[in-house]
Amino acid sequence: MPRKATKDRATYCSFCGRPKANNLRFISGIDAYICEDCVKIAHEILLDEEKTKREFKTFNLPTPNEIKAYLDQYVISQDLAKKVLSVAVYNHYKRIKNPKKDVELEKTNVLLIGPTGSGKTLLANTLAKLLDVPFAIFDVTSLTESGYVGEDVEAILLRLIQNAGGDLDRASYGIVYLDEIDKIAYKPTIGRDVSGEGVQEELLKLLEGNTVSVPMKSNKKMLEQGSFQLDTSDILFILGGAFVGVEDIVRNRIGSTEMGFKSNVKDVTQYTYNDLLSLVEPHDLVKYGFLPEFIGRIPLIVPLHSLGKAELIKILTEPRNSIIKQYQRFFEMENTKLTFTDDALEAIAEISIETNTGARGLRNIIEKSLLETMFKLPTIKIEKPVEEVIVDKEVITSGKEPVIIYTDNLRRRKKSL
Ligand SMILES: Nc1ncnc2c1ncn2[C@@H]1O[C@H](COP(=O)(O)OP(=O)(O)OP(=O)(O)O)[C@@H](O)[C@H]1O
Ligand SMILES: [Mg+2]
Repeated sequence: MPRKATKDRATYCSFCGRPKANNLRFISGIDAYICEDCVKIAHEILLDEEKTKREFKTFNLPTPNEIKAYLDQYVISQDLAKKVLSVAVYNHYKRIKNPKKDVELEKTNVLLIGPTGSGKTLLANTLAKLLDVPFAIFDVTSLTESGYVGEDVEAILLRLIQNAGGDLDRASYGIVYLDEIDKIAYKPTIGRDVSGEGVQEELLKLLEGNTVSVPMKSNKKMLEQGSFQLDTSDILFILGGAFVGVEDIVRNRIGSTEMGFKSNVKDVTQYTYNDLLSLVEPHDLVKYGFLPEFIGRIPLIVPLHSLGKAELIKILTEPRNSIIKQYQRFFEMENTKLTFTDDALEAIAEISIETNTGARGLRNIIEKSLLETMFKLPTIKIEKPVEEVIVDKEVITSGKEPVIIYTDNLRRRKKSL
């Protein structure tokens, strides 16, 4: 009976189901047949996979020094964080490119802790631009425990797979940046906490390295159309958060251990915010509201410090796409030069420090000071060409309008000289 059944089946390709025809050659297996077109397609798939693997092997990995030099162009200061990230990313790829199993090379997930506007998200975005590997940035505030409204942790992996162009192999050695991680701290006071401990437990599955089934749709309401199986063991996780208040936990810890010590120990009240941040230890984060096993999966905790006046001024002017350069470009498009006096830059930095927004507040201050001018300039220009707009200290501190220098005046002045 098997012979006859096989014979019948021999008239159809077991893969595409097309019937055998004179111009289509068939190859027979033990109990299946394949047409020449399906063979060609299968061959192409295999070649493609080989190519991806080859590409990864020959992918030109920048050295830690080169990675840092690139970050330096965009991120001011925060040298420790830049160094740690450069080494972590470099080692991550070394590990995967050399899959010798004699010594198990564990990955080093990294946690960046620093105040708002100190450059955490900027570092992640800049790294993602540099590296020619799948990189997903995910804000965990949108995550909730499975079964609740919000996104499941699998959505993180789906984004990584999408950024890898659907290539699971590439996604499995990608990098995931989990932003605002402090927002999923466990707060026992609010009872049933769907955005705390439960989410941490689910994230832990990814951090630990598991094969996770990733639904093809991230939205629960959409029908699942199947799933990907992704092994997370080789994915590098970088986490970032402001951890507001963690400095108090560190201060209390130091304060209590110092009691009874002699007077040569630095008084705990003398520690600055930046000092305290650089002393954060894993158990401080457990106290902050994280599961010990979660924190245990992040071997490196790196502080970013709050930015001082000189650093803020550098941020305004130095990075390749600094805020001032961006505004100057806008004005350039109107054929107008935009100038900030030195004391205006200082005043912007001072206001930003007062409002405790780090570099995050800088753009807002500039935007406010230039709003009127940006509104009027295109109209004024039609009647009188504008050569330059100058922002001085008073524009920033007392809302005065910037000084406008008209081209005619300038020419006249030059003539009279
Ligand atoms: N070290 C820095 N160098 C250059 N620009 C910076 C730096 N830190 C912050 N900025 C600027 O401030 C903006 C906000 O920074 P970023 O988004 O990195 O803050 P964050 O540390 O992630 O803060 P939050 O905790 O509020 O998310 C950036 O777009 C960038 O322009
Ligand atoms: Mg951020």
